[in-house]
Amino acid sequence: MVSRVIPVDPFDLVIFGATGDLARRKILPGLYRRFLGGQIPDEACLIGAARASLSDDQFRAQIEAAMAEFVDPAKRDPAQIARFLRCVRYVAIDATGEEGWAQLKALVRPDRVQAFYFSVAPTLFGALAERLHKHEIANSEARIVVEKPFGRDLASARALNGTLAAHFDERQIYRIDHYLGKETVQNLMAVRFANILFEPLWNAQFVDHVQITVAETVGVGGRGAYYDKSGAMRDMVQNHLMQLLCLIAMEPPYHFDPDAVRDEKLKVIRALDPLTSEDIVRGQYVDARGKSYVDDAENPASRTESYIALRCHVANWRWKGTPFYLRTGKKLRARTSEIAVVFKEPPHSIFDDDTGWRENMLVIRLQPNEGMNLKMMIKEPGPGGMRLVQVPLDMSFADALGEEGADMPDAYERLIMDVIRGNQTLFMRGDEVEAAWAWTDPIIAGWEATKARPQRYDAGSSGPEDALMLMHRDARRWREIRE
Ligand code: BG6
Repeated sequence: MVSRVIPVDPFDLVIFGATGDLARRKILPGLYRRFLGGQIPDEACLIGAARASLSDDQFRAQIEAAMAEFVDPAKRDPAQIARFLRCVRYVAIDATGEEGWAQLKALVRPDRVQAFYFSVAPTLFGALAERLHKHEIANSEARIVVEKPFGRDLASARALNGTLAAHFDERQIYRIDHYLGKETVQNLMAVRFANILFEPLWNAQFVDHVQITVAETVGVGGRGAYYDKSGAMRDMVQNHLMQLLCLIAMEPPYHFDPDAVRDEKLKVIRALDPLTSEDIVRGQYVDARGKSYVDDAENPASRTESYIALRCHVANWRWKGTPFYLRTGKKLRARTSEIAVVFKEPPHSIFDDDTGWRENMLVIRLQPNEGMNLKMMIKEPGPGGMRLVQVPLDMSFADALGEEGADMPDAYERLIMDVIRGNQTLFMRGDEVEAAWAWTDPIIAGWEATKARPQRYDAGSSGPEDALMLMHRDARRWREIRE
């Protein structure tokens, strides 16, 4: 199978914060891989902008170093790297002052597709947007790309939206949630809306519950200062997990069109019931040597959660009575992200009670080993009576799609190309982000008011005991966390 690579129109992409971590790890290596894939025309121009005073060649040398670290050795072709670097320029710029803006204006061509990636602290968004406008660098179709965290509550998200809206239209603003760029996350929409098989069963009548797990093995070491002001709820649930929930729970959009898809996601967020303390378990990891989250965060009094489990309800006709269990945490047993849709029992069993019936389940694996697994009941082979056994219809994309399944673009590569193409489907709209904060704000305020302390859980475990109880109380259980 050969995937189609459609080159994008020649463009100028300015990366503010070009010497930062995200640019080094994700944005620049991702652009190189797309270049290698034939998607970036030679006439495109990538302009790094940051405070440091660097020449073009010094910046190119930094990119080469980043590629040595973050690009697969098999893809590091010196001739291609040299060609790629010919597209690269650098401008030293003062985001809040006037230095460098005239040089930037001289580089950005007014008749090109223009994209400005704000890979900087949100406090600088306003200053950048204002200067792009004031110096007449951005044309009327220019795209602005911003990263999470997009605010830390509803008020700050509204303020950020207001700041951007002062200079750019909503159709020009691309808010990245990199989970939406993951191959399997998009596959969720294909599975649901390109197959007749699942949709008739995709409701409270047939779905017992849904489990969404994003488990990580890493701790917060190195990012403790940021993370401690955020926690798993703000860092992961408000964006990535809620986006996954939306894609599972939303109604079919009338078309695969940015606003049609985002309208349906927004309805899901607005339909979420408020949570009570009974629906929430928060945890902090502690390892065998007694070193814990609070040490990594360098805040002994920290009440920030490195783990959270939630039981949510989407209050609409389709989902009334079907709980959605969400969990995410650091330093867990394995790095795995998956969604499990667990179906109900058949209405009547013709088999004896002890035949070994287990529920049907559709597991969508986001990472690692992207794929899908549909658990079905069949007859246990062999002589003797009718015994049932659960078997997986397991598909790994890497196996099913051959080389291409194993070589899927990273989320950032895909999303940046969507920016250039002007496709906002996989980006969060301002009202979606605000609705997500409107739901999480009172939950966070609840535990802040009671000064609730997260429970401790062992590093390398599946999370706090009470998280198991969250499901046991409902006579359900989490799937095991394993790769
Ligand atoms: C980021 C969070 O958005 O997502 C990190 O800030 C988290 O805390 C990361 O580790 C997880 O992303 P991925 O793609 O590795 O699952």
